[in-house]
Amino acid sequence: MRQRRSNQGQWSSRLAFVLAATGSAIGLGSIWRFPFAVGEHGGGAFVALYLVAVFVIGFPLMIAEVMLGRRGRRNPISTMGMLSEEEAGHRGWSALGVLGIATGLLILSYYSVVAGWTLAHAARAASAPELGGSADAARAAFAAFQADALQLVLWHSVFLAAVAWVVARGVEGGLERMVTFTMPVLLLLLLVLVGWSMTHGDAARAVDYLFGASGAGIDAPLIVAAFAQAFFTLSIGVGALMAYGAYLPPDTRIPSATLTVVVTNVVVSLLAGLTIFPLAFRHGIDPGEGPGLVFNALPLAFEAMPGGRLFGTLFFLLLALAALGSAIALVEPAVAWAVERRGLTRPRAVLGVVGAVWVVGISIALSFNALSEVRFWRGTLFDNLEFLTSEVLLPLSAIGIALFSGWVMCRSSSSEELEIGVGSRFMLWRAAMRWWVPLALLGSGVAATLAWFGDRA
Ligand code: TRP
Repeated sequence: MRQRRSNQGQWSSRLAFVLAATGSAIGLGSIWRFPFAVGEHGGGAFVALYLVAVFVIGFPLMIAEVMLGRRGRRNPISTMGMLSEEEAGHRGWSALGVLGIATGLLILSYYSVVAGWTLAHAARAASAPELGGSADAARAAFAAFQADALQLVLWHSVFLAAVAWVVARGVEGGLERMVTFTMPVLLLLLLVLVGWSMTHGDAARAVDYLFGASGAGIDAPLIVAAFAQAFFTLSIGVGALMAYGAYLPPDTRIPSATLTVVVTNVVVSLLAGLTIFPLAFRHGIDPGEGPGLVFNALPLAFEAMPGGRLFGTLFFLLLALAALGSAIALVEPAVAWAVERRGLTRPRAVLGVVGAVWVVGISIALSFNALSEVRFWRGTLFDNLEFLTSEVLLPLSAIGIALFSGWVMCRSSSSEELEIGVGSRFMLWRAAMRWWVPLALLGSGVAATLAWFGDRA
């Protein structure tokens, strides 16, 4: 959450790191992206693959990224440059840092637009529009909101301004305190919401949809999508974990600290699924309707539940705060680089970085209205950027991290840094980096690309 550059340049405790990493992980990825990705890919098979991807691919990669960060102790570009020099005798791998930072900023440009929807929903939940329990009314209300370019740009700007404000002040204790408060409360609200949804919605169908063997076959695009969700939700591949790892005390055991983050994040995602799908099935909302899913389904619940106005406002506000934590982690590596390497003052660096993201974000906001007819490749500008970052750039970055820590870095460097000795657990992690992670990513990526060309032919 914050970069403690003061004195010893370290997290105050293991818990501080876990909280910061959890704060970056939990955001729109678990609560907005997970449900709509599950819906778009037909349920159970996707969820199962996602779980496998999180633990078998994501977890070892996360360990690797944090480990590289702690060894480098700099911004991601300098860290990769230095480690590359140390392990390979050239600075070529600093490109991995560049890729990560660029991907992070591209993600932020649409992340901020969606976070704006959350803010707008908080404002709207307070004034409780009349939906009369009808999914069509909810959909119409959301469509009208999306058609309003000015509103979308405005809320996107409000959100980014908040990001800029926090990051410019140096991401110090205030934010850490914020996360210690928002995360538990968000979790509590989510639990209440799950309870309501499971008792008032179609729980049986939702559980079957999420965990049953849904008919859809497993193919390469589905696998790539599950990997993408795992990387996105765990904040892998944009240098954020590297930046956080840089402040980890030398005696913290990376694997166990990381596992806490992974498990918390999975639990939140599954709870979000158990909230959305009972509502969707009860109200006849198509689970595959895409990025609007959460924003259509939840207002129906808030309208019907006692105290729903207050509850809904609070829920969307907390979701926006969770997104703020993630957004800060998305800009921090770029800002750290601009300050350390370009010699900019912190406020100037923030202005430059966030300003660029703001401009790109405006075109994304317009892709829901004024530019909605501009369609190519995967669809609108938003669809393209979303696909490019999570299903192309994040996996590429992940392959880079795996190859570097498995093949370029010598065994003694990584085992020393991971402090798990050269026992079986270390060998398992190393095998992940050398073999199954890069092979799984390359294999599924190539197969999905071929399938795409095959479909077009
Ligand atoms: N994990 C965040 C979420 O689920 C989004 C995200 C992706 C992210 N990559 C990141 C956040 C890197 C911080 C850093 O909402």
